[in-house]
Amino acid sequence: MNTRGQLRDKIVVITGASSGVGRASATVFAAEGAKVVVADIIEEPLAGGFGADEESSTAELIKSNGGDAVFVKCDVTKAGEVDAAVRAAVERYGRLDVMFNNAGVYRGGKLLDEFTEEDLQLCFDVNVKGTFLGTQAAIRQFRDQQRVSADNAGTIINLVSTAGLHGNLKQSVYNISKAAQANLTRCAALEYGPEGVRINGICPTFTKTALTRNLFDDTAFMENFTDSVPLKRWGETDDIAKLALFLASDASSYIHGALIPVDGGKSL
Ligand SMILES: NC(=O)c1ccc[n+]([C@@H]2O[C@H](COP(=O)([O-])OP(=O)(O)OC[C@H]3O[C@@H](n4cnc5c(N)ncnc54)[C@H](O)[C@@H]3O)[C@@H](O)[C@H]2O)c1
Repeated sequence: MNTRGQLRDKIVVITGASSGVGRASATVFAAEGAKVVVADIIEEPLAGGFGADEESSTAELIKSNGGDAVFVKCDVTKAGEVDAAVRAAVERYGRLDVMFNNAGVYRGGKLLDEFTEEDLQLCFDVNVKGTFLGTQAAIRQFRDQQRVSADNAGTIINLVSTAGLHGNLKQSVYNISKAAQANLTRCAALEYGPEGVRINGICPTFTKTALTRNLFDDTAFMENFTDSVPLKRWGETDDIAKLALFLASDASSYIHGALIPVDGGKSL
């Protein structure tokens, strides 16, 4: 058991934690003492990711490093499955401290008039509805806990994107879903801050995961994009996980309603 970590004994649900940013965050959180519910539609990492140990599921990886984690099958577009993921945290570990709404899908490479209704629907279902349902489930649980102890207010982190803060060519369906998720974060922060619940959003630019594998493998695009980033490199999943760790921990105790770029200066 980790007795010194920044998230010692915090109970965390991370959606979309089988791959990419969610997986990196789950392993960093667990190494800092958190007990993690890995909530995802599939248990194995998606093909095309850049991480090491991709043959192990996230919960297996955490447990092999001495941490505590459990996988719960959860489609974030279904309220019952999101509620069940939170319930799993409470039944196994006793409560919920951090809800990390990370699951997301990307659609790009087309002009607005070329996207299908299915592209639009999927981006809104997973990125917006998924975050909405995760927020609802967490707030209801936090309220139950606060009846027992006022210290149990809880924290919510939403994995948004710089795409939610401005326009980009050829990814309108993604950008408008991420913009909705950004405003969901602001609205929820206004509504639940008075209850002591801190709610923040993380806004990465392109980060090396299965989600961006096609873009990264397009050498011309990859080089052009890399050159446009002041730090001259793509984000790594650990870059994002370290910000998530800060937001989940008491070190960020007065940060609330923020949408924080983690983008190597790209937004400049
Ligand atoms: N990679 C990037 O460049 C980048 C940049 C900005 C923001 N983001 C955001 O970061 C988040 C994580 O992206 P990633 O790059 O790690 O992607 P990824 O594709 O590597 O991982 C996404 C995970 O979400 C899961 N998932 C998909 N639909 C789901 C659903 N309906 N219910 C539950 N889980 C579901 C997948 O199974 C997968 O494990 C997303 O919200 C994404 O929009 C990513």
